[in-house]
Amino acid sequence: MVSTSFLSPSSAWPTLIQGGMGIGVSDWKLARAVSRCGQLGVVSGTALASVLVRRLQAGDLTGDIRRALAACPLRAEAETVLHRYWCPEGRPDATPYAAAPMPRHDAGRFWTGLTALAAFVEVFLAKEGHDGVVGLNLLEKIQLPSLPTLFGAMLAGVDYVLMGAGIPRAIPGVLDRFARGEPAMLELYVEDDNPDRNAPPVELRLDPSDWVPGLPPLHRPRFLAIVSSHVLATSLARKASGRVDGFVVEGWTAGGHNAPPRGAPTNATTSEAPVYGPRDEVDLAALRAIDRPFWLAGSFASADRLASARAAGAQGVQLGTAFAFCTESGVTAELKTQVIALSRSGQLRVETAARVSPTGLPFKVLNVPGTLADPEQIVQRPRRCDLGYLRVAYRRPDGSLGYRCPAEPVDDYIAKGGDPADTVGRLCLCNGLLGTIGLGQRQPEDFTEPALITAGVDATELARFIPPGEANYTAADVIRQLGLPA
Ligand SMILES: Cc1cc2nc3c(=O)[nH]c(=O)nc-3n(C[C@H](O)[C@H](O)[C@H](O)COP(=O)(O)O)c2cc1C
Repeated sequence: MVSTSFLSPSSAWPTLIQGGMGIGVSDWKLARAVSRCGQLGVVSGTALASVLVRRLQAGDLTGDIRRALAACPLRAEAETVLHRYWCPEGRPDATPYAAAPMPRHDAGRFWTGLTALAAFVEVFLAKEGHDGVVGLNLLEKIQLPSLPTLFGAMLAGVDYVLMGAGIPRAIPGVLDRFARGEPAMLELYVEDDNPDRNAPPVELRLDPSDWVPGLPPLHRPRFLAIVSSHVLATSLARKASGRVDGFVVEGWTAGGHNAPPRGAPTNATTSEAPVYGPRDEVDLAALRAIDRPFWLAGSFASADRLASARAAGAQGVQLGTAFAFCTESGVTAELKTQVIALSRSGQLRVETAARVSPTGLPFKVLNVPGTLADPEQIVQRPRRCDLGYLRVAYRRPDGSLGYRCPAEPVDDYIAKGGDPADTVGRLCLCNGLLGTIGLGQRQPEDFTEPALITAGVDATELARFIPPGEANYTAADVIRQLGLPA
């Protein structure tokens, strides 16, 4: 059992957090590289079941995944997954990947075990070979895989859990329960057009003893909530289901999803880029008053910005964009070269797209040719929902549960009772983001899903991380730029 040997080796707070970047951009290689330098490396927990099954079908030529699976206490599940998905020679390029089951409340034991295994693998590999700390990033908006992902990560001894894109009030309590070996529950968010229905809540549940008999107590990771305002931080500090150990406070220039501008509707109906203003500045005095450690995020990738954050009372900073294009990240080498060249030549544009993400949140997109930022690619790609991580549960007229995503084929969405206006401008983030890490699906129309690249406004200044005479840069180069030892 891995639990006791993986107790957190360090109780000191990190100065630098390498932000979780999905899907698979902050994979175990990047997190391990950062943790080895004494800072907090974070693996993305998003869509890990699909990442695992595709990596196995790509051959796992280095044997890393099979080594991690062999260390996992979920023995029967590891054997089944290996048997079902591993292609020793690697799957031929034109062959579609066999899919992981789509997330649902009733997805069943195979999906739950696969999801837990995938999180175990990612955290196990990130922690291997050093005694630094490793975190796991999850999004509140993607609820269905949360319990098995947290359980698998805790089996591998994860030190921190970081969660944003919503209000993760229930998660600290889940960590407490899993640490004691007790079952944990989450209430599934369900859209219901008929508020008079009085339907019972749908409970997601995972009992550790159903998976590992005789499990000893697990290390309870520290929980950091990712927020964009002190109001949410204060509410979480008071009302979460367990201890929130600190906060990452993210501004609107950050990569990935952003909070909508203060006062704007949460689900924009126009495709105009959101306009941020003084009301979106974080109230640092209010944040300090909460009296928990906090880290600032959103364009903090320099020694000066780190110093300003610390002067404002922050423990340190969280960076994403700077790490997204370093050699250890999951982004393909070709896309990194393309993004770095565009950044160096001043041609890289970072758009805050109001309508692209099915979540309804603003989402940063880079204008890289050949990716889904290119209108021609969007027109050519038939809408399809075959991964399903951003689907939301809804109640059918007969009371049963269905799942829909505003980026799926419009007719399907309407047939499920969805509002056609919701579908306008949406892109399939699941397929696009897997394309970014070289795991794009080969679709029946004979094309490979194109990438969709997200990053913050710092992407226009990547050249400053590249050592003289080099074409690219490492995670350690980023850390040194902040004046920290690496
Ligand atoms: C490629 C990319 C993917 C990201 N994905 C996630 C994610 O899955 N979950 C999350 O909480 N934050 C995500 N972020 C945000 C980062 O964790 C981090 O907070 C942010 O990048 C910090 O701002 P910066 O980009 O200006 O450094 C992502 C950022 C990037 C660049």
